Amino acid sequence: MHSTYSKEKKVIDSATEHLERLLQNTLIARQENQRVDQDTITKAKQQLQKSGWVLLRGFNHDLEAFSALVSHFCSKLTFDPAREFTNDTAQKVDAGTQAIGLHIENGNTPFPPDVVAFYSRKSASVGSQTTLCDGQKIFNAMPTHLQSLFEKNMVVSRTLPEALWKRYVANEHPLIDNPEQVTQQRLQELMNMLPGQTGTVNDQGELYYRLCFSPILVNTQSGQRAFANAILGPSFNYQAPTYEFEGGQALDGQTKAEIADLAEQCTLELAWQDGDMVLIDNTRVMHGRRAIQGDPNDRQLVIAMGSH
Ligand SMILES: [Fe+2]
Repeated sequence: MHSTYSKEKKVIDSATEHLERLLQNTLIARQENQRVDQDTITKAKQQLQKSGWVLLRGFNHDLEAFSALVSHFCSKLTFDPAREFTNDTAQKVDAGTQAIGLHIENGNTPFPPDVVAFYSRKSASVGSQTTLCDGQKIFNAMPTHLQSLFEKNMVVSRTLPEALWKRYVANEHPLIDNPEQVTQQRLQELMNMLPGQTGTVNDQGELYYRLCFSPILVNTQSGQRAFANAILGPSFNYQAPTYEFEGGQALDGQTKAEIADLAEQCTLELAWQDGDMVLIDNTRVMHGRRAIQGDPNDRQLVIAMGSH
């Protein structure tokens, strides 16, 4: 099945190739209810390094098993404070029913996690597929003018309500763990941990901040570049951000559409089965979601994230 989506040659050519790629990234349990053992963890790590994501299917699963799995990949956990907590490690994914554009998790924050993990406790029978897109494939498929353009640093800016930014600071600052402990000084200390950020708090307690980031991330081992950022992503829980290149040039709609087209051609769709657990290299592979069809309660997806 060839798509008529673009006159260009699609990066992923056919439904067969799509399926092959999904299977290459899937570890299937050898027997029913098999626990995730050390051998599986080793293979998952190899796969994650090789292609940027791995799916574990058919294994014994519950929130504890998911947390244990994630702990093999992350020593420090990062939470999205806008989400409801599911247990100590994981949070529920709750982001409306519309399709969600490709993004790296927390890509508009100063410290995006290295790894993001999802666990499908209950899977929708139709729609709601998670989309996965290898930023290395996007970068390699980009025309030269786009590669050069996105080699520049970018600046994202937006205003955050007091409760959200304070929870974020409380979670990220090494000396505190409660939003009530957040002061102007603690905010400034966190800002100082990563150069290129500025923030001002207004009379309503909202934080207007600007963050400089690189839309292309370079793998420290292979040197391979990946288009990995949140430019195409959602802002379900937050005000939509503004993007510009360093120096003030705005990200125009046409460029964004060009990138979205290219990304769509590199995108794989993962149709969840109950108990599926996925680990994603958040410095390389972007994720998103097709629209939820039917009752959103038919789907229970849990997210965890963290750094090595
Ligand atoms: Fe996400």
